Amino acid sequence: MAERSLVLIKPDAVRRGLVGEIIGRFERKGLALDALVLRTMDADLADAHYAEHVEKPFYPPLKDFMTSGPLVAAIVSGDQAIAVIRALVGATDGRAAAAGTIRGDLSLSNRENLVHASDSTESAEREIKLWFPELS
Ligand code: CMP
Repeated sequence: MAERSLVLIKPDAVRRGLVGEIIGRFERKGLALDALVLRTMDADLADAHYAEHVEKPFYPPLKDFMTSGPLVAAIVSGDQAIAVIRALVGATDGRAAAAGTIRGDLSLSNRENLVHASDSTESAEREIKLWFPELS
């Protein structure tokens, strides 16, 4: 079934010049780019996007990181896109993520892990409404 996901290519990926590499992996898989923008997350958007994490101990440094510079926000779509993208992205902690995944190949951190991808169709619609209200 066709699905769409909200993908954030995080500030570490922009700083490291990995945006093309990461988007290329999605494109080569056969997924479609429905929207794409370079944008800096502000504090309010961080709190809304990460509403389920704001009370967690890792949230303050995560918020500092996510607002530290521009990121790329995208809507990526395709057949079973939510699960397909999460498989391409790999486990949260780059040190434990499987080789062959974006994080497994390119990240050594559980915070600066290059990519965020929606974890369910409900999260995707909530997150798309925050980032691309005109497309929700
Ligand atoms: P993301 O998929 O954007 O969802 C929540 C983010 O919080 C996650 O990627 C990581 O960047 C970060 N994160 C999750 N768990 C931890 C942790 N234990 N320590 C630091 N950062 C974390």
